[in-house]
Amino acid sequence: MNTVKTVRELRAAIAGARSKGKRIALVPTMGNLHSGHVALVEKAKQRADFVVTSIFVNPLQFGPSEDLSKYPRSLAADQEKLIEVDCDLLFAPELEEIYPDGMQGQTTVHVPVASEGLCGASRPGHFDGVATVVSKLFNIVQPDLAIFGEKDFQQLAVIRKLVRDLNMSIQIMGEPTVRAEDGLALSSRNSFLTERQRAAAPALYGCLNDIASAIRAGERDFAKLTGKGKTALRKAGFRPDYLEICEAQSLRSADPQDQHLVILAAAFMGKARLIDNLELNLASAD
Ligand code: PAF
Repeated sequence: MNTVKTVRELRAAIAGARSKGKRIALVPTMGNLHSGHVALVEKAKQRADFVVTSIFVNPLQFGPSEDLSKYPRSLAADQEKLIEVDCDLLFAPELEEIYPDGMQGQTTVHVPVASEGLCGASRPGHFDGVATVVSKLFNIVQPDLAIFGEKDFQQLAVIRKLVRDLNMSIQIMGEPTVRAEDGLALSSRNSFLTERQRAAAPALYGCLNDIASAIRAGERDFAKLTGKGKTALRKAGFRPDYLEICEAQSLRSADPQDQHLVILAAAFMGKARLIDNLELNLASAD
Protein backbone atom coordinates (compact mmCIF):
# COMPACT_ATOMS: atom_id res chain seq x y z
CA MET A 1 0.00 0.00 0.00
CA ASN A 2 1.30 3.42 -0.95
CA THR A 3 0.94 6.39 1.37
CA VAL A 4 0.66 9.77 -0.35
CA LYS A 5 0.57 13.15 1.32
CA THR A 6 -0.21 15.52 -1.53
CA VAL A 7 -3.24 16.05 -3.74
CA ARG A 8 -0.99 15.86 -6.80
CA GLU A 9 0.36 12.40 -5.86
CA LEU A 10 -3.10 11.21 -4.96
CA ARG A 11 -4.58 12.35 -8.28
CA ALA A 12 -1.78 10.63 -10.20
CA ALA A 13 -2.45 7.34 -8.38
CA ILE A 14 -6.21 7.65 -8.95
CA ALA A 15 -5.68 8.44 -12.64
CA GLY A 16 -3.63 5.24 -12.92
CA ALA A 17 -6.41 3.18 -11.34
CA ARG A 18 -9.11 4.86 -13.46
CA SER A 19 -7.19 4.21 -16.67
CA LYS A 20 -7.42 0.50 -15.83
CA GLY A 21 -11.20 0.86 -15.46
CA LYS A 22 -11.14 0.41 -11.70
CA ARG A 23 -14.08 1.34 -9.48
CA ILE A 24 -12.85 3.59 -6.69
CA ALA A 25 -14.02 3.67 -3.07
CA LEU A 26 -13.11 6.22 -0.41
CA VAL A 27 -13.12 5.59 3.33
CA PRO A 28 -12.64 8.97 5.05
CA THR A 29 -11.27 8.75 8.61
CA MET A 30 -9.45 10.78 11.21
CA GLY A 31 -7.09 7.90 11.92
CA ASN A 32 -6.37 6.02 15.15
CA LEU A 33 -8.00 3.15 13.35
CA HIS A 34 -9.91 0.42 15.18
CA SER A 35 -11.95 -2.59 14.06
CA GLY A 36 -14.84 -0.29 13.11
CA HIS A 37 -12.67 1.47 10.53
CA VAL A 38 -11.25 -1.85 9.38
CA ALA A 39 -14.83 -3.07 8.72
CA LEU A 40 -15.38 0.02 6.52
CA VAL A 41 -12.26 -0.77 4.47
CA GLU A 42 -13.26 -4.43 4.19
CA LYS A 43 -16.70 -3.42 2.90
CA ALA A 44 -15.03 -1.01 0.46
CA LYS A 45 -12.80 -3.84 -0.81
CA GLN A 46 -15.94 -5.90 -1.55
CA ARG A 47 -17.61 -3.07 -3.42
CA ALA A 48 -14.73 -1.52 -5.38
CA ASP A 49 -11.46 -2.41 -7.13
CA PHE A 50 -9.32 0.35 -5.67
CA VAL A 51 -9.77 1.53 -2.08
CA VAL A 52 -8.46 4.85 -0.80
CA THR A 53 -8.48 5.51 2.94
CA SER A 54 -7.91 9.08 4.06
CA ILE A 55 -6.52 10.03 7.46
CA PHE A 56 -6.90 13.68 8.30
CA VAL A 57 -7.76 15.16 11.70
CA ASN A 58 -9.86 18.05 10.47
CA PRO A 59 -9.56 21.12 12.73
CA LEU A 60 -12.54 22.74 11.02
CA GLN A 61 -14.95 20.31 12.68
CA PHE A 62 -13.66 20.83 16.24
CA GLY A 63 -15.00 23.61 18.46
CA PRO A 64 -12.57 25.87 20.36
CA SER A 65 -13.04 23.97 23.64
CA GLU A 66 -12.97 20.50 22.08
CA ASP A 67 -10.33 17.77 22.01
CA LEU A 68 -8.45 18.61 18.75
CA SER A 69 -4.97 18.80 20.30
CA LYS A 70 -5.55 15.61 22.29
CA TYR A 71 -7.19 13.68 19.45
CA PRO A 72 -5.21 10.42 19.23
CA ARG A 73 -2.82 10.15 16.26
CA SER A 74 -1.14 6.84 15.35
CA LEU A 75 -0.12 6.89 11.69
CA ALA A 76 2.39 4.00 11.78
CA ALA A 77 -0.05 1.63 13.50
CA ASP A 78 -2.83 2.79 11.15
CA GLN A 79 -0.68 2.01 8.11
CA GLU A 80 -0.08 -1.52 9.40
CA LYS A 81 -3.80 -2.11 9.88
CA LEU A 82 -4.54 -0.83 6.38
CA ILE A 83 -1.85 -3.07 4.86
CA GLU A 84 -3.41 -6.07 6.63
CA VAL A 85 -6.79 -5.42 4.99
CA ASP A 86 -5.17 -4.76 1.63
CA CYS A 87 -6.14 -1.10 1.32
CA ASP A 88 -4.74 0.19 -1.97
CA LEU A 89 -3.82 3.76 -1.08
CA LEU A 90 -3.57 5.89 2.04
CA PHE A 91 -4.03 9.63 1.68
CA ALA A 92 -2.57 11.28 4.80
CA PRO A 93 -2.23 14.98 4.03
CA GLU A 94 -0.79 17.64 6.31
CA LEU A 95 -2.98 20.55 7.36
CA GLU A 96 -1.47 22.89 4.72
CA GLU A 97 -2.32 20.47 1.93
CA ILE A 98 -6.03 20.61 2.75
CA TYR A 99 -6.18 24.26 3.82
CA PRO A 100 -3.32 25.94 1.86
CA ASP A 101 -4.71 29.42 2.58
CA GLY A 102 -5.54 28.67 6.20
CA MET A 103 -9.01 28.02 7.54
CA GLN A 104 -10.07 31.60 8.11
CA GLY A 105 -11.28 32.41 4.59
CA GLN A 106 -12.08 28.83 3.62
CA THR A 107 -15.27 28.34 1.60
CA THR A 108 -17.51 26.18 3.74
CA VAL A 109 -20.45 23.90 3.08
CA HIS A 110 -23.56 24.10 5.24
CA VAL A 111 -26.15 21.34 5.08
CA PRO A 112 -29.37 22.74 6.53
CA VAL A 113 -31.88 20.81 8.62
CA ALA A 114 -29.85 17.59 8.88
CA SER A 115 -27.06 19.54 10.64
CA GLU A 116 -29.40 21.06 13.19
CA GLY A 117 -30.32 19.48 16.53
CA LEU A 118 -28.55 16.59 18.29
CA CYS A 119 -24.75 16.90 17.80
CA GLY A 120 -25.34 19.97 15.61
CA ALA A 121 -26.93 21.78 18.54
CA SER A 122 -24.22 20.82 21.05
CA ARG A 123 -21.32 21.34 18.65
CA PRO A 124 -22.03 24.52 16.66
CA GLY A 125 -20.22 24.51 13.32
CA HIS A 126 -19.21 20.86 13.64
CA PHE A 127 -21.20 19.62 10.66
CA ASP A 128 -20.12 22.58 8.51
CA GLY A 129 -16.56 21.42 9.19
CA VAL A 130 -17.45 17.82 8.34
CA ALA A 131 -19.40 18.75 5.18
CA THR A 132 -16.57 21.02 4.03
CA VAL A 133 -13.75 18.50 4.45
CA VAL A 134 -15.83 15.64 3.05
CA SER A 135 -16.69 17.79 -0.01
CA LYS A 136 -12.99 18.53 -0.46
CA LEU A 137 -12.09 14.83 -0.14
CA PHE A 138 -14.84 13.92 -2.62
CA ASN A 139 -13.50 16.49 -5.09
CA ILE A 140 -9.91 15.37 -4.60
CA VAL A 141 -10.53 11.62 -4.87
CA GLN A 142 -13.70 11.64 -7.03
CA PRO A 143 -14.69 8.18 -5.78
CA ASP A 144 -17.55 6.08 -7.12
CA LEU A 145 -18.57 5.27 -3.58
CA ALA A 146 -17.75 6.34 -0.05
CA ILE A 147 -18.34 4.43 3.17
CA PHE A 148 -19.09 5.84 6.62
CA GLY A 149 -19.88 4.26 9.99
CA GLU A 150 -23.46 4.28 11.23
CA LYS A 151 -22.24 5.14 14.73
CA ASP A 152 -22.16 8.73 13.46
CA PHE A 153 -25.80 8.48 12.44
CA GLN A 154 -26.39 12.22 12.04
CA GLN A 155 -23.10 12.65 10.15
CA LEU A 156 -24.25 9.99 7.67
CA ALA A 157 -27.59 11.83 7.23
CA VAL A 158 -25.71 15.11 6.64
CA ILE A 159 -23.44 13.50 4.03
CA ARG A 160 -26.32 11.79 2.23
CA LYS A 161 -28.11 15.15 1.99
CA LEU A 162 -24.91 16.92 0.90
CA VAL A 163 -24.45 14.48 -1.97
CA ARG A 164 -28.12 14.68 -2.99
CA ASP A 165 -28.37 18.47 -2.75
CA LEU A 166 -25.14 19.10 -4.69
CA ASN A 167 -25.73 16.38 -7.31
CA MET A 168 -22.52 14.57 -6.50
CA SER A 169 -22.34 11.30 -8.37
CA ILE A 170 -21.10 9.27 -5.40
CA GLN A 171 -22.83 6.31 -3.79
CA ILE A 172 -22.89 6.71 0.00
CA MET A 173 -22.94 3.56 2.10
CA GLY A 174 -23.34 3.19 5.86
CA GLU A 175 -21.76 0.32 7.78
CA PRO A 176 -23.20 -0.99 11.07
CA THR A 177 -21.46 0.06 14.29
CA VAL A 178 -18.79 -2.34 15.51
CA ARG A 179 -19.03 -3.00 19.25
CA ALA A 180 -16.84 -4.46 21.95
CA GLU A 181 -18.15 -7.67 23.53
CA ASP A 182 -19.80 -5.69 26.31
CA GLY A 183 -21.68 -3.54 23.79
CA LEU A 184 -19.60 -0.35 23.86
CA ALA A 185 -19.41 1.14 20.36
CA LEU A 186 -15.80 1.26 19.16
CA SER A 187 -14.54 4.83 18.96
CA SER A 188 -11.20 6.57 18.91
CA ARG A 189 -12.44 8.56 21.88
CA ASN A 190 -12.71 5.41 24.03
CA SER A 191 -8.97 5.80 24.57
CA PHE A 192 -9.74 8.83 26.78
CA LEU A 193 -11.53 6.55 29.29
CA THR A 194 -9.87 5.38 32.49
CA GLU A 195 -10.22 1.69 33.35
CA ARG A 196 -13.15 2.43 35.67
CA GLN A 197 -14.87 4.64 33.15
CA ARG A 198 -14.37 2.03 30.43
CA ALA A 199 -16.06 -0.56 32.67
CA ALA A 200 -19.06 1.76 33.17
CA ALA A 201 -19.32 2.98 29.56
CA PRO A 202 -21.44 0.09 28.13
CA ALA A 203 -24.33 1.61 30.13
CA LEU A 204 -24.78 4.00 27.19
CA TYR A 205 -25.75 1.20 24.82
CA GLY A 206 -27.63 -0.48 27.67
CA CYS A 207 -29.76 2.64 28.02
CA LEU A 208 -30.58 2.67 24.29
CA ASN A 209 -31.56 -1.00 24.47
CA ASP A 210 -33.79 -0.42 27.50
CA ILE A 211 -35.61 2.35 25.66
CA ALA A 212 -35.94 0.16 22.55
CA SER A 213 -37.41 -2.69 24.64
CA ALA A 214 -39.94 -0.36 26.25
CA ILE A 215 -41.00 0.98 22.81
CA ARG A 216 -41.32 -2.56 21.47
CA ALA A 217 -43.49 -3.36 24.50
CA GLY A 218 -45.84 -0.50 23.50
CA GLU A 219 -44.59 2.52 25.49
CA ARG A 220 -45.02 5.73 23.45
CA ASP A 221 -44.37 8.39 26.10
CA PHE A 222 -41.00 9.31 24.62
CA ALA A 223 -40.33 12.15 27.07
CA LYS A 224 -40.78 9.75 29.97
CA LEU A 225 -38.46 7.20 28.35
CA THR A 226 -35.67 9.69 27.67
CA GLY A 227 -36.09 11.21 31.15
CA LYS A 228 -35.65 7.77 32.74
CA GLY A 229 -32.78 7.03 30.38
CA LYS A 230 -30.89 10.17 31.39
CA THR A 231 -31.32 9.27 35.05
CA ALA A 232 -29.87 5.81 34.35
CA LEU A 233 -26.95 7.39 32.48
CA ARG A 234 -26.20 9.75 35.39
CA LYS A 235 -26.29 6.79 37.79
CA ALA A 236 -23.70 5.02 35.62
CA GLY A 237 -21.39 8.05 35.82
CA PHE A 238 -22.30 9.79 32.54
CA ARG A 239 -23.13 13.46 32.05
CA PRO A 240 -25.77 13.24 29.32
CA ASP A 241 -25.54 15.77 26.50
CA TYR A 242 -28.69 14.58 24.72
CA LEU A 243 -30.85 11.49 24.58
CA GLU A 244 -33.54 11.67 21.91
CA ILE A 245 -35.94 9.44 20.04
CA CYS A 246 -36.25 10.53 16.42
CA GLU A 247 -37.86 9.46 13.19
CA ALA A 248 -34.97 7.68 11.46
CA GLN A 249 -35.11 9.26 7.98
CA SER A 250 -35.74 12.91 8.89
CA LEU A 251 -34.20 12.98 12.39
CA ARG A 252 -37.16 15.07 13.62
CA SER A 253 -38.53 14.22 17.07
CA ALA A 254 -40.49 10.99 16.81
CA ASP A 255 -44.29 10.90 16.86
CA PRO A 256 -46.04 7.96 18.56
CA GLN A 257 -47.25 6.63 15.18
CA ASP A 258 -43.77 6.59 13.57
CA GLN A 259 -42.58 3.11 12.65
CA HIS A 260 -38.92 3.71 11.84
CA LEU A 261 -37.19 5.19 14.85
CA VAL A 262 -33.67 5.87 15.99
CA ILE A 263 -32.66 6.48 19.58
CA LEU A 264 -29.61 8.73 19.72
CA ALA A 265 -27.41 9.69 22.63
CA ALA A 266 -24.31 11.70 23.38
CA ALA A 267 -22.89 11.69 26.89
CA PHE A 268 -19.69 12.64 28.62
CA MET A 269 -17.79 10.10 30.67
CA GLY A 270 -14.85 11.96 32.18
CA LYS A 271 -13.00 13.60 29.29
CA ALA A 272 -14.65 11.49 26.61
CA ARG A 273 -17.79 12.54 24.77
CA LEU A 274 -19.31 9.29 23.53
CA ILE A 275 -22.11 8.96 21.00
CA ASP A 276 -24.23 5.98 20.12
CA ASN A 277 -27.55 5.15 18.50
CA LEU A 278 -30.00 2.31 18.00
CA GLU A 279 -32.35 2.01 15.04
CA LEU A 280 -35.72 0.46 15.63
CA ASN A 281 -37.95 -0.58 12.76
CA LEU A 282 -41.32 -1.42 14.25
CA ALA A 283 -42.77 -2.38 10.87
CA SER A 284 -40.30 -5.26 10.51
CA ALA A 285 -39.58 -7.91 13.14
CA ASP A 286 -36.18 -6.70 14.40
O1 PAF B 1 -16.17 10.45 11.00
C1 PAF B 1 -15.04 10.96 10.90
O2 PAF B 1 -14.03 10.35 11.23
C2 PAF B 1 -14.92 12.39 10.36
O3 PAF B 1 -15.97 13.17 10.77
C3 PAF B 1 -14.75 12.44 8.83
C4 PAF B 1 -15.97 11.90 8.11
C5 PAF B 1 -13.52 11.64 8.41
C6 PAF B 1 -14.55 13.89 8.37
O4 PAF B 1 -13.43 14.46 8.97
